[in-house]
Parts: sequence; C-alpha cells; structure tokens
Amino acid sequence: MATGKFIVIDGPDGCGKSTQAKLLAEYFKRKHLKVLNLREPGGTPISEKIRRILLDPANSRMTVPTELFLYMASRAQLVDEVIKPALAKGKIIICGRFLSSTIVYQGIAGNIGKKLVEDMGKIATHNIIPDLTIILDIKPEDGLRRKKTRPDRMEKKELAFHRKVRKGFLKLAMENPSKYKVIPSFGSIESIQGKIRALVERII
Ligand code: TMP
Repeated sequence: MATGKFIVIDGPDGCGKSTQAKLLAEYFKRKHLKVLNLREPGGTPISEKIRRILLDPANSRMTVPTELFLYMASRAQLVDEVIKPALAKGKIIICGRFLSSTIVYQGIAGNIGKKLVEDMGKIATHNIIPDLTIILDIKPEDGLRRKKTRPDRMEKKELAFHRKVRKGFLKLAMENPSKYKVIPSFGSIESIQGKIRALVERII
C-alpha cells in the first residue's frame, strides 16, 4: 500500500512547472520531509533516453501513436523503478507531468482518444493516481514565448495543437475537480508558489 504523497504539476509548455516544482521541493526539504522531485518523460536512465528520442527535433516524422507508446514506456519504467518504491517508503513525490499530459497531448490534442489513453495508462502506472494534480494554466503563445532554449519536437508543433492542449487541461480539471486544481500562471513566481503551497498543505 502506498503511504507517501504524490503531487503532479502539469500544464501547457512554458507554464513554469519546473521552477515551481523546484521551489516546492526546497520548501518540503526545509521542513525535513523526504521529497523526490521528478520529471516526465525522464527520471530514470532508461526514461531519460526515451525523453531524448521524443524531444529530438530531428525526429519530425514521429507519429502520434509512436509518441503515445514512448511516453507510456518512459512512465512505466519511472513508476516501477522510482515512484512505487518511494511512495511505499512514505516519501513525497513531486512530478513535473504524468498521465494527465498523455491524456491531453496524445489523447485529446493528438486525437487518440481520452478513454484509450486512460486505459493504457493503467498498465504504465499500476493504477497509481496522484493525490493532487496542479495545472498551471497559460496561453500557449505566452508559454512558448517564455522558453529560452531552442524549441524541441513538441514545442515545434503548430499553435492550433498547443491551443487544444490548453483546452484539454482545463477540461480535464473541470471534469475531476477533487483531483485537479488550476492555478493561472500569471504574476510573480512567489505568488504562484504561495497558491501551490496553500493547495498542497491541505493534503500533506
Ligand atoms: P517538458 O517536460 O520539458 O515540458 O517536455 C515534455 C514535452 O513532452 C512537452 O511538450 C509535453 C510533452 N508530453 C507529451 O506530449 N505527453 C506526455 O505524456 C508527456 C509526459 C509529455
């Protein structure tokens, strides 16, 4: 039985999730809590290799079903190797993205279908469901503009795709208000962090 807590920070590209996840992890560490800050795709040597394939702009011919299987493969490895054992030890996990991203990017925006992705996700996650998923909401134009590095394969997709992604996240949150909370990624880093902590403190 999992006894730890599992918090996911997700949202459109450039929403600021890695900055916020880092600050949240530091906050927990100051409180002497055992915390792991992970990212998806990634977080294990195998998953990081899969990440490189997925995000390499040279792989522009990659199809959506291929994406789907690779994101799920990266996740399956991370869950078995890191997430499941850490939760069993009572740790707090903060994860940048999780199944919610596949539901939105491949299932909704990529037209695979939400239900199919959710069902497949059960294999990769062993039915581990985050205690809380925070969606940092941002307009795709603003998010993509914030990125300082060269655009990766996903960021290079057209704006219409990224608009569907944003809508998808908001829809997912509306349908599951007890598990998903939306915070506008607007204002200072500190004020957004304050809102995240207020939500997280309710479950820790
Ligand atoms: P990021 O974590 O640096 O934002 O990069 C990951 C990219 O991969 C981002 O564009 C979202 C995308 N993605 C999916 O399309 N499906 C997924 O399941 C995950 C985890 C990420």
